[in-house]
Amino acid sequence: MQFFLTFLSLALAFRTASAAAVSSRALPGFVQTNGTRFSLDGQKYTVVGANAYWISLAGLSNKDLDKSFSDIASMGATSVRVWGHNEMSEQYIYPAGIVYQIWSGNKAKVNYGENGLGYFDRVIASARKHNLRLIVALTSNYNQDYITGGINTYIKQVLGRDEFHEVFFTNSEIKSAYKSYVTAVVERYKEEATILSWELGHHLKCSVSWHPYNPKCSTEAITSWIQEMSSHIKTIDPNHLVAVGDEGFYNREGNSRWIYNGRDGIDFEANIALKSIDYGTFAYRPESYELRNTEEPLQWIEEHGKSQARAGKPVVLADIGLEIRESWLDKVVSSGIAGTLYWQAGSDGISLNMPFWFHGDSISTASTAYVNLRKHAEALKKQ
Ligand SMILES: *[C@@H]1O[C@H](CO)[C@@H](O)[C@H](O)[C@H]1NC(C)=O
Repeated sequence: MQFFLTFLSLALAFRTASAAAVSSRALPGFVQTNGTRFSLDGQKYTVVGANAYWISLAGLSNKDLDKSFSDIASMGATSVRVWGHNEMSEQYIYPAGIVYQIWSGNKAKVNYGENGLGYFDRVIASARKHNLRLIVALTSNYNQDYITGGINTYIKQVLGRDEFHEVFFTNSEIKSAYKSYVTAVVERYKEEATILSWELGHHLKCSVSWHPYNPKCSTEAITSWIQEMSSHIKTIDPNHLVAVGDEGFYNREGNSRWIYNGRDGIDFEANIALKSIDYGTFAYRPESYELRNTEEPLQWIEEHGKSQARAGKPVVLADIGLEIRESWLDKVVSSGIAGTLYWQAGSDGISLNMPFWFHGDSISTASTAYVNLRKHAEALKKQ
């Protein structure tokens, strides 16, 4: 205890002394940014690894948590992206399921129990044991009532009906519901260095699966929401990095392609320029993004390398899969992109109490993707 307190006061003194020179995030053990790269305790830190949202939702035993993280570490990973949210209406809660936020009508409460944040504590402990750091998404765009909650749960519970996702970013009651959940989670883990960063939400945008696009969608509304929520997190937790968690869509006038013209409410360049956003993310889904021939997909990667240089902040390819081609990975490296996360890692032979968690396009450790990613991780680390 004595040691811990001494350590803490030293750490705090260090933080104050170095605040002006380096950044406000100088606590030892916390990943920081350094221009377009990440750093950790004075060394370069490479963000490479995989998504594995099922790990924080599947209610694994400690033994299986260890197996899962050890499998991911074996691909040369340093970082794993997981869900730090699961907002559920009480009527949808699976008996053995993990749920972080329980909704009853328009009232929500955070679940601190063994099947809630108590489980997330075990996820963190196991990641730490394997020298991995976690990127934690605080909600998700996709409406999966029975699986991962998300934006739709907030909208349906607060308004009592489905709506375009723009209301998630503009309705004051919904905003304060999201803010109170985020406050609870961030407060609980603000001293936890195993967490690499917070992400406001997975694939945030205003389009929804039941409608091709939202006619009322505005990039300004989402950028202003991002500004509000990210600075709120920084106020309570100056130690951790904060990112949006979006797919990196551009908002360029006169461009006819929807991933480049702001249709879904995301302006990647405006968002990464915000002071309270530390790095950018983008996804690489050539088919769903209608990136045709061989050039367009490669251009998408290159564009994000250019944005990274202009912003002077790291950009991470946070979602690539299931297919990966060596030419794509080579382009990531040659474009100078700071990091890559595969969608998504699997682990063989573990026992899931909710088997359908595994269905999110996860791969076996025997897959060639693991081999390619191991090589790619080496290339990124050398960069
Ligand atoms: C920060 O970036 C500079 C410039 O690229 C580099 O020389 C330095 O070693 C980096 N520091 C860390 C801690 O990564």
